[in-house]
Amino acid sequence: MCIAQVPDVRRLLPALLFFISACAVEPSVSPLPLHQESRRAILEAALWMPELPYPRKLLSAYGLESQGWELLPLIRDDVAAFRRSDSEHLLAGGSLPIDDLQPIQSLGLPLGQAVFHYFPMRADRWLDWLVQSPEHWDAVGLRTTADGSVHGVVRHIDAYGKPAVAITCALCHSAESKVADFHDGRATRALDLGLARTLWRQASGLSQGPEANWGPGRIDVTDDGIDSPTVIPDLFGLKHAQYLNCSGVIEVSHALVPAIRFETQYILGHELLARPSRHLTVALAEYVMSLESGTHHVEIPSAFWQHCAQCHDPEYSFSGGLIDAQAVGTDTAAATTPNRGTGYYKVPSLLGVSLGGPFFHDGSALTFDDVFVVHTQAQDVNRTAKRQIIEFLLTL
Ligand code: HEC
Ligand code: HEC
Repeated sequence: MCIAQVPDVRRLLPALLFFISACAVEPSVSPLPLHQESRRAILEAALWMPELPYPRKLLSAYGLESQGWELLPLIRDDVAAFRRSDSEHLLAGGSLPIDDLQPIQSLGLPLGQAVFHYFPMRADRWLDWLVQSPEHWDAVGLRTTADGSVHGVVRHIDAYGKPAVAITCALCHSAESKVADFHDGRATRALDLGLARTLWRQASGLSQGPEANWGPGRIDVTDDGIDSPTVIPDLFGLKHAQYLNCSGVIEVSHALVPAIRFETQYILGHELLARPSRHLTVALAEYVMSLESGTHHVEIPSAFWQHCAQCHDPEYSFSGGLIDAQAVGTDTAAATTPNRGTGYYKVPSLLGVSLGGPFFHDGSALTFDDVFVVHTQAQDVNRTAKRQIIEFLLTL
């Protein structure tokens, strides 16, 4: 078992990010927040298992001086929400309207929040089909806001210079909760992208793929050809996260690691043809690190200290280091895939668990009672302690 130490840098994170973003202006006008050589060194330190294919891919192209992804043109930052009326327009044989695109800076939102909601992350063939199939939006879990905008779907100009539709962070990471209608950071558990892809395959005459069995709220974000869907996680308590992703493939060894991770995700999402401006990904990271569950926990009961706190550390938003994947009780597939298989699962933050399950990276526990059945670490807890702990979890 390995519980990593928490480097002190995390305590400095808000201050550091503030400092960086305060210095970050349009890259064409001023130098970048940090030299690309140091960014590369940060990524190298964060990818602590560099022999895995996913880290290898990033390290082959990221932060190199005069080659690789540094040379890519910037992703255009003029955007607009995709609206129900755009769908009708497309269905009537029209082309995608782009006359109302606006620079992301001028949407009237704090920059990080604007990026979270409106900056195009990736396009997909199933998405092009879905936006023209509004009869399936309810089943797939797409939501429209009062003004007819489809939440988490935008219009923009892609790397080929063509009008295109793309998804944003908000599609998967902003959902209805007991706190808000669109609660940024709350996983979109009703979103069924497995169904979206399955319907698209049917409509395109393709044979059924493994995503037919994902169910809502689960997605395979790797491209290693092995079916290992994971639950979309809540993004709460991340300012204390020691690792990112369920298998902990990325260590948050520096305050800029989340920004660099998002930067590489946008590059991969844009088929390695364009990269996001760095002041956008730094603002995004600052926003994501600040997201709150909106819940207020009561005093921590002794049973929690006794059975849970050594991993779910109350000082660090109830999160922790890495645990041998065999020792947790959940499915081990996502910890052993060729692409990101570290052999470990990270201890996730428990902030926001009262907003509801399914719990664990594989969604194998629907209720808190199930957590005590599945979770090896929770099986030996007696009835009284279990009751105290569940009451406490209901306040997190
Ligand atoms: C298509 C749905 C989808 C979209 C869009 C998406 N994510 Fe995620 N995100 C996921 C899934 C699924 C995981 C879990 C991956 C894993 O554990 O291996 C995840 C994991 C994460 C994590 C790691 C959380 C943790 O506790 O380790 C962060 C941070 C994150 N996403 C932020 C973002 C940001 C910022 C964006 C926009 C740039 C974004 N995501 C877009 C589905 C999505
Ligand atoms: C030895 C370390 C360890 C101990 C002790 C531990 N956990 Fe965990 N916990 C983990 C890991 C690792 C995961 C992630 C497993 C996965 O997703 O496959 C986890 C996940 C969870 C989750 C799911 C969170 C989510 O957002 O899906 C809950 C709930 C949870 N633990 C509750 C508890 C409770 C309650 C206790 C005490 C009775 C406890 N844990 C004790 C390591 C631990």
